[in-house]
Amino acid sequence: MTVISYVNGRYLPHAHAYVHIEDRGFQFSDAVYEVIAVQNGRLVDGEGHLERLERSLNELSISPPMSRSALRCVIKALLRRNRVKFGSLYIQVSRGQAPRDFAFPSGIRPTLVMSVKRQKPFDADAISQGVKVITIPDIRWKRCDIKSVSLLAPAMGKTEAVNRGAFEAWQVDGEGLISEGTSSNAWIVTPEGELVTRHTDHAILGGITRHALLQLAREDGLKVVERAFSVAEAQAAAEAFTTSTTAFIRAVVQIDDTVIGTGEAGTFYKKLVALYGQHIARSTSS
Ligand code: PDD
Repeated sequence: MTVISYVNGRYLPHAHAYVHIEDRGFQFSDAVYEVIAVQNGRLVDGEGHLERLERSLNELSISPPMSRSALRCVIKALLRRNRVKFGSLYIQVSRGQAPRDFAFPSGIRPTLVMSVKRQKPFDADAISQGVKVITIPDIRWKRCDIKSVSLLAPAMGKTEAVNRGAFEAWQVDGEGLISEGTSSNAWIVTPEGELVTRHTDHAILGGITRHALLQLAREDGLKVVERAFSVAEAQAAAEAFTTSTTAFIRAVVQIDDTVIGTGEAGTFYKKLVALYGQHIARSTSS
């Protein structure tokens, strides 16, 4: 079956889905994106992702390519054309195509592209295998709250992680505090049983998975604190994990050379994975 992608109003075979060489997304990383999980043929937390997309566009003064309801129609059509039941949807909006100039012109038409990827369904047992993370300096720009396609530092970091046999790299700021993973948010459970993840500001991306999990944990009566934590605190934690749209929740059982807790997925992790599984089922069933 030919995979179909979307480029500026056209549904094209993936192999023929192109944008122009003077697209500002290509030349200046002048673009934002979203990755949304698809389960049972439906988007997981779709509205949260579309809201964040609108926010990213607004922060960079890029015109929305279409209304949210029109975007929903295109997404639905693309999922249907590709018959995707489980996987992810990629959406990118760049400022548009213009002769190369650092200062951007006003009134250019934004470029909208979308593509889909098939993946295995959410499986609590399969993702419960613990993973290793490494720590690296956070060398990104100071607006990490915007989901921009300027991803060179995270790409370098993730490659280093993979080369060192790790699942993810947690980035560390100038104060020795962990900001977030290259493409995920970082969490720990303190020895006192507090669930901790960094507060949101310009230094991290407000993850949609993070947001859903915070809500689920609070509803379940868990003690949750949003604050930064150091590498040393993470290494002394009872549990650690990392969250993102594509990886869901992964138990972190080793940070650099230090084994975390028992070295296996812990009780908080298992509880949260169960809650998140219910959340996916709820948000994709109606
Ligand atoms: N990345 N932090 C960063 C820097 C990210 O790139 C991501 C997601 C997250 C988690 O956000 P969410 O829960 O909304 O996926 C945190 C996506 C998955 C990616 O770039 O592929």
